[in-house]
Amino acid sequence: MTLKFTLAADAPEAAPTPCVVVGIYEDRVLTPAAARIDERAGGAIKRLIESGDAPAKIGSTTVLFGVAGVTAPRVALVGLGEQKKFDAAAFHRAASESARMLKGLPIESAVSYLTEIDVPGRDAAWKVRTAALAADAQAYRYTATFKPKEKPKTPQLDAIAFAGAAGDRTTQRALTEAAAIANGVRFARELGNLPPNICNPAYIAAQAKKIADGHDGVTIQVLERDEMQKLGMGSLLGVSQGSANPPKLIVLRWQGGGEKAKPYALVGKGITFDTGGISLKPGAGMEEMKFDMCGAAGVLGAFLAAVELKLALNLVCVVPAVENMPDGNAYRPSDILTSMSGLTIEVLNTDAEGRLILCDALTYAQKFEPQVIIDAATLTGACVVALGKHASGLMTKDDELADQLLKCGNDTMDRAWRLPLWDDYQQQLESGFADVANIGGKYAGAITAGCFLSRFVNGTRWAHLDIAGTAWEEGRKGLATGRPVPLLAQYLIDRSA
Ligand code: BES
Ligand code: MN
Ligand code: ZN
Repeated sequence: MTLKFTLAADAPEAAPTPCVVVGIYEDRVLTPAAARIDERAGGAIKRLIESGDAPAKIGSTTVLFGVAGVTAPRVALVGLGEQKKFDAAAFHRAASESARMLKGLPIESAVSYLTEIDVPGRDAAWKVRTAALAADAQAYRYTATFKPKEKPKTPQLDAIAFAGAAGDRTTQRALTEAAAIANGVRFARELGNLPPNICNPAYIAAQAKKIADGHDGVTIQVLERDEMQKLGMGSLLGVSQGSANPPKLIVLRWQGGGEKAKPYALVGKGITFDTGGISLKPGAGMEEMKFDMCGAAGVLGAFLAAVELKLALNLVCVVPAVENMPDGNAYRPSDILTSMSGLTIEVLNTDAEGRLILCDALTYAQKFEPQVIIDAATLTGACVVALGKHASGLMTKDDELADQLLKCGNDTMDRAWRLPLWDDYQQQLESGFADVANIGGKYAGAITAGCFLSRFVNGTRWAHLDIAGTAWEEGRKGLATGRPVPLLAQYLIDRSA
């Protein structure tokens, strides 16, 4: 369950809530809400600042209890840093850290006045949506595979109200969209975090079925191995053949637009575990490859958000779900696979498997005559080398589509950065034995992976998001982030407007 979000129009000193959240800048500058509280409380905040106890750095927090003249028993102060440097990233940070602090308090709800603060170039709707998404990301806990805990004795945060006019339709709409996106993000995170002995191809198919069963107007089709064989998906099936878990091709459809309107298509890499296959990965860090289905989780999460918002467009979501294992029956380096498109592929490395399942999924997606195809995939380590953990790699030849997607990434703090897909790189994929090789040599690995995919998209507007660096947080306790759900969901919201 996501947090519940509402708008609150109460004055900060009078809000009937267990906690009000207000911001203060460095150098004693109070936000209007903090100034009001300070005035009612006889200068309590200013005295705190004088004493040096007040938070000043962006995201640092202090909670005051029992402030005279204020209805709420708690006043949470959040540092905003320097006023003249306060921007979108600082706002996101302050919203996120304030939610982290709220989560640690024995309260069920709070009212945040951070949304009243000026953020250059961003409107009220943006502030409300950003604060809500940041708060929900902080509130998420992964519990699925721990011994069930006793019900916590202290109250748990489950609702936040943001300062804003309740009658304002655009802000209210932003909050509704944020709730749907947050739900999609949670869906993607949970699926990503589950271990591969639970989250196998059949499990992803079952989750997709739940989405279909739970929403009117959503239909689902899950293609089994024999059906994929009939369709000639030799590339996807090649990857799957070393695994005891049979592959699934999941197809979800939403018809929110006109009967004849061409759908938007989302395609997501669903490798439920990537051992590398016969080109086995080194042992250290291999456990992270349970996240290799985060593209699938991301497109399903975005689909869920779109459906919950009943967006006025048609959507098809194609998820190839496959496990990449070494085995006596596994595919091998030098195997030649025949893809559904007819193109033959020389396998030079069984660890470059993502593109091999995606190419058949892309071919299949084109049966729906989509107006746009966007795929998301934890495709290459090279993308992480190029862009680190902050930006997803965006590859497309379509400048307009690129600009739209980059904008949605900026708007939702789920940023992408474009890499070129020039034809110059295509020669790296030449093979002496098939139409194309599945690896492109040591240079520009993220781009040559994109170039490989481009060969299976014929004339349809298409973009590829490499989320290898952004889909999960590194480290022993690193969780799935739910990216690129915000970017994709915002793209669909903008298209349906
Ligand atoms: N799933 C991996 C990509 C990956 C690696 C994502 C590390 C995040 C972190 C993908 O299937 C893979 O193994 N790619 C290879 C491609 C290479 C063999 C051309 C890679 O990036 O090393
Ligand atoms: Mn791999
Ligand atoms: Zn992989």
